[in-house]
Amino acid sequence: MYRAGQVVWGALEEMRTMIRPGISTKELDEFAEGYTKEHGARPAFKGYRGYPGSVCTSINQEVVHGIPSAARKLREGDILSMDFGVELGGYFGDAALTVPVGRVTPEREKLLRVTRESLEQGIAKIRAGNRLGDVSAAVQQWVEKNGYSVVREFVGHGIGTKMHEDPQLPNYGSPGQGPKLQEGMVLAIEPMVNTGGPGVRVLDDEWTAVTSDGSDSAHFEHTVAVTKNGPWILTRPKEAAGPVW
Ligand code: MF3
Ligand code: CO
Repeated sequence: MYRAGQVVWGALEEMRTMIRPGISTKELDEFAEGYTKEHGARPAFKGYRGYPGSVCTSINQEVVHGIPSAARKLREGDILSMDFGVELGGYFGDAALTVPVGRVTPEREKLLRVTRESLEQGIAKIRAGNRLGDVSAAVQQWVEKNGYSVVREFVGHGIGTKMHEDPQLPNYGSPGQGPKLQEGMVLAIEPMVNTGGPGVRVLDDEWTAVTSDGSDSAHFEHTVAVTKNGPWILTRPKEAAGPVW
């Protein structure tokens, strides 16, 4: 799973360097697919329940599952979530980050920072013996303390030989509740955070989820293994330090 995770991380880091006004989300998608194949892996989202892309690209008020398109060009001031997963040798990795396009408003900068920090707060609770609700509550508390809301309709998940395995991992909950985390479990933890209310709706393309109130949304995700000594983030290099994205 670490090997799969490194392909996910490598593709996302490369895509991050491609971000500029004028690039289309389709160009990012094509890059991700090529990078994945060069590394002997398979894009996990493509064809999943009929999903047409390799990456999910969600801009501004789009929450998750935006479909890459040649007609959709990034503009200065946008925020772009890139969500990507691969399968390598039968194992999956899944990660996401949200990036600014050129200069963005301080409000958008804050949304990206708070959402990334909420992922860090959740990851910090991943340790054998803790409970799933400890992770969920840590994410929710950080988000709400900063005046934002967490999306309820989409959740994190177990991951392994399938992209989505039990248990579901909501971004809201109560400390001490839910199943105990055990060594060897692997979770994809993925806060989706709105600056307005928590509500979302899905567009007529049947994939793109947007905020009901038109507020901005951000999304960060890592695939994380539970160990005795705490979290092992599989979707970044072992030697990495500092912020998780
Ligand atoms: N990272 C998302 C997830 O964990 C994306 C998968 S949706 C797909 O569920 F359809 F595009 F695959
Ligand atoms: Co996921």
